[in-house]
Amino acid sequence: MRRKLVAGNWKMHGSLAENEALLSGVLAGIGEVKVGVAVCVPFPYLAQAQARLAGSKIAWGAQNLSQHAKGAFTGEVSAAMLKDFGCAYVIVGHSERRALFGESDAVVAEKFAAAQAAGLTPILCVGETLEEREGGITEQVVGRQLDAVIAKCGVSALAKAVLAYEPVWAIGTGKTATPEQAQAVHAFIRARVRGLDAGVAKGLIIQYGGSMKPGNASELLSQPDIDGGLIGGAALNAEEFLAICRAG
Ligand code: PGA
Repeated sequence: MRRKLVAGNWKMHGSLAENEALLSGVLAGIGEVKVGVAVCVPFPYLAQAQARLAGSKIAWGAQNLSQHAKGAFTGEVSAAMLKDFGCAYVIVGHSERRALFGESDAVVAEKFAAAQAAGLTPILCVGETLEEREGGITEQVVGRQLDAVIAKCGVSALAKAVLAYEPVWAIGTGKTATPEQAQAVHAFIRARVRGLDAGVAKGLIIQYGGSMKPGNASELLSQPDIDGGLIGGAALNAEEFLAICRAG
């Protein structure tokens, strides 16, 4: 059985004081939660996450990393630096990185490889835009994004990774994919991996992300191929985040 994983993606939100309130709220209610839980915080707050969460049931991670190991890359952060702060996870290929910062499939694959080389578990995001969905090419887009990583790292690399299906049109918009729409793409992803390695496909955690909230989480999380959530907005509120974790 796959153990579900609910991860918060704080994006560019928070402050030392706000994070303290949020983390202590989540820690206070984490006792009854059965799923795995993680928070992906902005780089400057990794030390705070480590200090607050070490020894707890909550893992932490980052939202991006450099594809390079070290060198003259002003402003970049390497996988080894994330390891230094105890990160377990790093989000790779979030649609905001792809769309706003020009990350290609090839760069995303390099970042995925860099994360794994340092012993981090990448959370690889894939997903189509509204235009692509309406054009009937959702599977083509998601398949291409996935194949780029498999081509570089091999299907066996997915045994040490998490996938997140995040339809771009559902992110931060309040428009959630219906459980059926999400399940269909999750099943497609798993089948594609199964075609290469049945064992890897069976163990692969595929999260859903895109306006997951307490009100829609249990229906989404009860779908056979939805193994958790990548939570943006609702992860900034301890009660909402915990409610989603409890729904898993
Ligand atoms: P959202 O963001 O929950 O605010 O839609 C999800 C994400 O971008 O990971």
